Amino acid sequence: MSQHQLEITKLNKIYDKKVHVLKDIDLEINEKEFLVLVGPSGCGKSTLLRSIAGLEGVTSGDISIAGRTVTDLAPADRDIAMVFQDYALYPHMTVRDNLSFGLRMRKLPKDEIDEQVNTAAAMLGIEELLDRRPSQLSGGQRQRVAIGRAVVRRAQLFLFDEPLSNLDAKLRSQTRIELADLHRKVGATSVYVTHDQVEAMTLADRIVVLNKGVIQQQGAPMDLYREPANCFVASFIGSPTMNFFPGKLTRTGGKATFCIGNDEIDLSDCPVPEAGGDYVLGIRPEAIKVLAKQGREAEGKVDMKVTVNLIEPHGHEAHMVATLAGHQAIIRSANPHRLKVMTDAHRGDLLDVTFDREAMHFFDTSSEGLRVKTTWIS
Ligand SMILES: Nc1ncnc2c1ncn2[C@@H]1O[C@H](COP(=O)(O)OP(=O)(O)O)[C@@H](O)[C@H]1O
Ligand SMILES: [Mg+2]
Repeated sequence: MSQHQLEITKLNKIYDKKVHVLKDIDLEINEKEFLVLVGPSGCGKSTLLRSIAGLEGVTSGDISIAGRTVTDLAPADRDIAMVFQDYALYPHMTVRDNLSFGLRMRKLPKDEIDEQVNTAAAMLGIEELLDRRPSQLSGGQRQRVAIGRAVVRRAQLFLFDEPLSNLDAKLRSQTRIELADLHRKVGATSVYVTHDQVEAMTLADRIVVLNKGVIQQQGAPMDLYREPANCFVASFIGSPTMNFFPGKLTRTGGKATFCIGNDEIDLSDCPVPEAGGDYVLGIRPEAIKVLAKQGREAEGKVDMKVTVNLIEPHGHEAHMVATLAGHQAIIRSANPHRLKVMTDAHRGDLLDVTFDREAMHFFDTSSEGLRVKTTWIS
């Protein structure tokens, strides 16, 4: 019998009878899966995690862990390990005592405790720190001890609530790599909460995007990037964010055109929505390509002219802020040829751009902004 390690059904959480924070959450997590729950601040991520942990009672719905309903069980009876943003280490205890605390509470034999603590310390590279107190550790080291404390528990389920958000940028990317490596070694089923879409993209087997307490979409990182279900997911996943241009699609005979303000793009050579009308065209920064003066034919036809506002060189790539048909557009490229055209450009220059035909998304203009299916015109 196949069984989900974590199963959440129709979960609702209402604070004080009026703040509806989680709305009909259905979620299943497989054994050893690393699931990342991502969404803007205040969307309910911590509330969901705390509900799974039992630190927060739910208003309705069910939670089961490894086939056992735990909705009404105390946190200690759920067999989970949780790593918080602020680490929550015991300040007066050494690292060794912090790591072994849970095991000592459960009255495990001393040999066994020592073995588990030493194994976890070796795995995390913190053997030299075992006799120090948290105040004698750097932020990154404290973070590792907090994870170590979860590792020694050998729990059914690991929960992480923005564990890297207190680290500086460099340490954050290093720790991200270590976390991925640790997950490969331990294989613990994990729910990892972050508001950082880069962490979500790089760590997740599967991403769940939450907004205002509602699951927007879930799937493999690249599936969400390539096929976002709606405007919200499209704008949340990917950095710099996707460009959006509201406009009107016209289909007549074998020809399709999209008007953004007074500018018109011929889209007869790519899939477009079945029906003409108002849409929001979504296109990622790397899918708008600046054309060089030479070799233009080989690179694609000119779709638009953009006015350069600002160039941001990043070394390996450049970002350009431009005005396209009256809207702000972010364009990025790592292609050496385009990089040169972009970094040579000045504010006020007019540049020709082409839109990557494989990377155009159409969203409806309703409040949900759903992505619309497209088909070839002929
Ligand atoms: N104890 C509480 N009482 C009332 N409202 C709360 C409580 N805890 C959180 N909230 C509200 O629930 C919403 C979601 O909070 P939270 O789950 O912490 O968001 P996130 O972790 O995604 O930033 C927020 O609007 C927050 O103000
Ligand atoms: Mg939170």
